[in-house]
Amino acid sequence: MNLRYRKTIIAGNWKMNLNAEAAKQFIAQLKPLAAEAKWCDVVLCVPFLQIPAAVKAAKGTKIAIGAQNCHFETKGAYTGEISCAMLAEAGVKYVIIGHSERRRDCGETDRLVNQKVLAALQAGLRPIICVGETLEMRDNGVTLDLVRMQVKVALRGVMQDQLRRVTIAYEPIWAIGTGYTATAEQAGEVGGCIREVLRQNYGARAARSVSILYGGSMNTSNAATLLAQPDVDGGLIGGASLNAESFGKIIEAANQE
Ligand code: PGA
Repeated sequence: MNLRYRKTIIAGNWKMNLNAEAAKQFIAQLKPLAAEAKWCDVVLCVPFLQIPAAVKAAKGTKIAIGAQNCHFETKGAYTGEISCAMLAEAGVKYVIIGHSERRRDCGETDRLVNQKVLAALQAGLRPIICVGETLEMRDNGVTLDLVRMQVKVALRGVMQDQLRRVTIAYEPIWAIGTGYTATAEQAGEVGGCIREVLRQNYGARAARSVSILYGGSMNTSNAATLLAQPDVDGGLIGGASLNAESFGKIIEAANQE
């Protein structure tokens, strides 16, 4: 973390979990904990259908609501899709783009991720762009090459003044939902590499304003160590974000001056 230049962000990714009632209860429980979090932003990325209930419950709190996906077109014949304008209208502030589960299950490519990032920025949303390698890639020593490429393509056409609304989440696929976590050094190394790509493309000043998150089995016991890395500015948290108490503990670990 480096509070001098950028925000710390703790974002929960509920994936396909929790109904509207559970969302309401969760937010009521998290509210007092989030209120203490002066030094970090708190985001909950909830299923589409839970957005209205979550936005209502989070009104007047420090908790921002995010979505887990969006379409890149503004409207049209795209059955089953949701546009960024619709999300913004519903009160959504952040949107996860290019999560590895969508890359795997829905065939999302880096080019599609780029189109969605541009659409999200156009609609005034804050994209959380997910990048990360498989175990095979890591074993073959191509992690940094892959992540560099993913970040470059995802940001194609993004202007310097839009970059401050962008968040990047490094999520090694082998660590997502597996209980295996990247070591702080691994997370820090990839975070540093992402920062370097940003620096080359946008200059040092813009690059240091971007929050780079780590995701992949982040939990109450490993959060503080991961967040101690200078280029780990928060977390994108799946499993441990489904329980308000454990999520609150991670916020506490991130809320350091
Ligand atoms: P996990 O998920 O914390 O359950 O590993 C993280 C994510 O997929 O964003």
